Formats: sequence, structure tokens, C-alpha cells
Amino acid sequence: MATPRFADFERILFFTGAGLSAESGIPTYRGKGGMWTEYDYEDYACQRAFDAEPDKVWDFHDKRRAAVAACAPNDGHRIIAEVQRERAGTSVVTQNIDGLHQRSGATDIVELHGSLWRVRCDRENIVRDDTSVPMSPRTCTCGAYWRPDIVWFEDSLDHRVVRRARELLEGCDLLVSVGTSGIVYPAADLPRLAMQNGATSVEINLEDTPVSPLYQHRLRGKASEMLASMR
Ligand code: APR
Repeated sequence: MATPRFADFERILFFTGAGLSAESGIPTYRGKGGMWTEYDYEDYACQRAFDAEPDKVWDFHDKRRAAVAACAPNDGHRIIAEVQRERAGTSVVTQNIDGLHQRSGATDIVELHGSLWRVRCDRENIVRDDTSVPMSPRTCTCGAYWRPDIVWFEDSLDHRVVRRARELLEGCDLLVSVGTSGIVYPAADLPRLAMQNGATSVEINLEDTPVSPLYQHRLRGKASEMLASMR
């Protein structure tokens, strides 16, 4: 089957994962060089670890913020932002927390797993943007530690974010999944909504994933190159 072209669709949905940012130099989570092959997420990316040793978690998190701040969006991000400018019905639902979609000029990004660049005080129930590296001070004026506003393992997703993502997935006529292993739920369930509603579906990845059989088109190669082939 011929590769779908963006110009042939009205409501395009990009569903993105860490593989989109790999070409920017940001490690993915799984596979060769993946973050979770180097660190045990239970020590750094879950509420229990944060409650027990907040400074240890912040040390890890500050390293990630510094590393990501030194990276830039790649052509894959730029193509997505360009398609969004050219085709008004285009939206982005990302599992990424790196903020590279925003830095490439894309807008209205649904961040399923939060953002490296937001922190929140759970005692005062406030959230704020913060791009300082290292993040300082680490405590709110109320004395509680600022918590990275990202979805850690065992956290539940923000139901308002999930509702918005579901609406977009249900309403698109082209679903383009880019660089995700498709094994982390509930995010991994969302693309099915697009398929159930008759959207044309494309999976962009270097290799097959457990959800590859769901997709009509499987483009195998680097995200930026495969996205370019759909222009
Ligand atoms: N181009 C396209 N795909 C790529 C590239 C690339 N240059 N490099 C890697 N990939 C693919 C890998 O083959 C893999 O299938 O990207 C995928 C990355 O998978 P993960 O590392 O599991 O990332 P992701 O799917 O985004 O993880 C989902 O898991 O740890 C949690 O919350 C975290 O949001 C994350 C979630």
C-alpha cells in the first residue's frame, strides 16, 4: 500500500514517544542505551522514592533537565509543527516530557505524562512552569518539596488530559504513531480509538512493536526520515 500523504487528510493526530526525540540526542527509555537499562525507575521515578529521598530524585531529575536543555528539536519535530501550521485540524498527543514539540513551534500539545519543565506543590495544590537548571529552591514557601509534574510509574494520569486525548484520537482521520514501544498503559491503549473510528493508521519506528499488527502502514526507519516521506 502506498505511503499516506499528509495532504490527503483533514484531521491528523501525531501520537509521539521517546523515539521521536532520539535524533535530538535524548535517550529513549527501552532498548539499546535506554534510560531504564541504566537506572532503576523505582529509585528515581516513582512517588515512593520521592517521598523517601526527595533530594536523590531531584539530583536525578536535575541531570535530566540539564541534558534535555542542551538538546534541540530535530527535523521530525519540525515536520510535525509544519504540518500543524499547514493543516488546521492537526493535533499532537505525546508521551514525551522533554518539551521539544513546544520548542519546535507546535502548539496545543497534550502531554500525557506531564513535563520536565513544570513542578507542583501537592500540599498547596499549585503547578508552575520552571525551566531553571538546576531547579532551585527545591522547596515551596510552605516548606514542602516541589514535585516534578510528571507521571511516574504507579501514578494515575490526569483524567482531564486523558479525556482530551481520547477526543482527539476518536476524531482524527489519520493517526501517525511516532517512536513509541507501545507497551506502557493506559497511553498504549489510546491509538486503538482512532482505528476503531476508521482512521488511516501509520506506525513509524525503527523496528516492529507489540502493537505493530494494529497499524495499516508500518514505516521502518528514523522518525524524521519517515515523516518526511509522508509530505
Ligand atoms: N526513530 C523512530 N523510532 C525510534 C528511533 C528513531 N530514531 N529511536 C528509537 N525508536 C523507537 C524504539 O524502537 C522504541 O520502539 O522508539 C521507541 C521508544 O520506546 P520507549 O523507550 O519505550 O519510549 P516510549 O514508548 O515513549 O515510552 C513510553 O514509558 O517510561 C515510560 O513514561 C515513560 O513516556 C514513557 C513511556
